[in-house]
Formats: sequence, C-alpha cells, structure tokens
Amino acid sequence: MLMLLFIGTIVFNQFGTSNINAADSITVTDEQREEFIKNFKRIGLNTAPDDAMILRILVQASGAKRGIEVGSATGYGAINMGIAFERNGGHLYTIDVDPQMVKICRENVKKIGLEKTVTVIEGDALKVLPTLEGEFDFVFIDALKRDYLKYFQAISPKLKKGAIVVADNVIRSANEMRDFLDFMEKDKDFEKVTIRASMEKNDGMGIYLKIR
Ligand SMILES: C[S@@+](CC[C@H](N)C(=O)[O-])C[C@H]1O[C@@H](n2cnc3c(N)ncnc32)[C@H](O)[C@@H]1O
Repeated sequence: MLMLLFIGTIVFNQFGTSNINAADSITVTDEQREEFIKNFKRIGLNTAPDDAMILRILVQASGAKRGIEVGSATGYGAINMGIAFERNGGHLYTIDVDPQMVKICRENVKKIGLEKTVTVIEGDALKVLPTLEGEFDFVFIDALKRDYLKYFQAISPKLKKGAIVVADNVIRSANEMRDFLDFMEKDKDFEKVTIRASMEKNDGMGIYLKIR
C-alpha cells in the first residue's frame, strides 16, 4: 500500500531518495517505513523493538481507534503504534513534557508519513490528560514511574469497555509504581497480565483489559 503525504513546500526526506515531485507529494511505502524503523537511532529512553512490536500488534488486533501515549520521547513507540492506528483508521495522541523530545518526535512522525494519524502534544501529561475530549480504547503509559497511578486515574473515566492499558517497566520499576500496581491488582474491572516481549532491558509490560 502506498501512503501519499501532501505537503505545501519542498521537503527532503530521511530516505535520501528523490521522491519529491512537482505535486509536492512524498510517497512512503510500507518497505520504507520498516527500513526507517530498522535504522531508527534509538536512545536509552525508547521502547525496545519487540515491546514496540507488541504495542503495534495489540493496537491492530484490538481494532483500537483512539489511543494515548504518555511519554513520547523521540517517537519510537509512537510510530510503531501509529502504523497500526493508521491501518485501523484511528488516531494516536502522544504527550511529552520535554520540548526537545516533542520536536524530534514530530520530525520522526513526519518523516515516516504518519502526521495525519499521530498528534504529538507538548505538555505535562497530568495537565494535558484532563483536557483530552472523548473516549479512548488504547493507552500506553511510559513517563514518570512514580506518577503512573495519577496518569491512569486521569485517563480512567475516558476508557471504553474493551480498552487496553499498557504500562511499561512494571518489573524493574515496580517499587516506584507500587501504588499503581496495587491499585490495578485490586481493580475487578480489568483483566491483567505481565508480559516480557523483550529481554533487552530485562523488564516487562503490564497489560490491562477493561472488561466492564
Ligand atoms: C521512557 S520515555 C518514553 C519512551 C517512548 N514511550 C518510546 O516508546 O520510545 C519517557 C518520556 O516521558 C517524558 N515525561 C516525563 N514526565 C512527563 C510528564 N509529566 N508528562 C509528559 N511526559 C513526561 C520524558 O520527557 C520522556 O521523554
């Protein structure tokens, strides 16, 4: 499938190819997207590739249409989830408090041709989350570990039945997010499991399905 990205000015793309034409459109193929992800210069904050792939699979398999990522960093998770949201005809809102991360994340979203599907919001998630309108069916929490419960409680009233919440680093940062883990353990509205899709960081992700 070809994705056409229409822009108003001449822009050079990350693939270093000459796909700029007179109509000011950039064509990004699925193969180019996968190449971009393969060559992505991940920083330590980024999700590991297998974790990012699990996120992508969960988004697509669940048919999620409206997602939130808390903590974008440079966008490795966002572009992986964005591919699935695009396939679902959905949208992802990713939030980061660091202006430099937001800038790089926006550039990466644009380079991979996902700017119609992924919106990068600059701000403190604890302030941004209450302002997001409508219901959501997918959430990836990956910012300050000690604030996971606060992020979750800000999003919880907006979660649809069937929504999936994914929390990163639930093994190595368990002590920092103990209140969140205990809260979720007791919450009968969610079925839950911890998965270790990647051993790169010797960590795991909590997966929570809202069943009622
Ligand atoms: C582990 S990184 C996110 C990695 C990203 N999810 C990925 O898949 O590559 C955590 C990010 O959370 C951001 N962050 C920390 N506190 C935040 C807050 N209160 N609101 C929004 N973002 C925050 C940091 O700036 C950092 O970029």
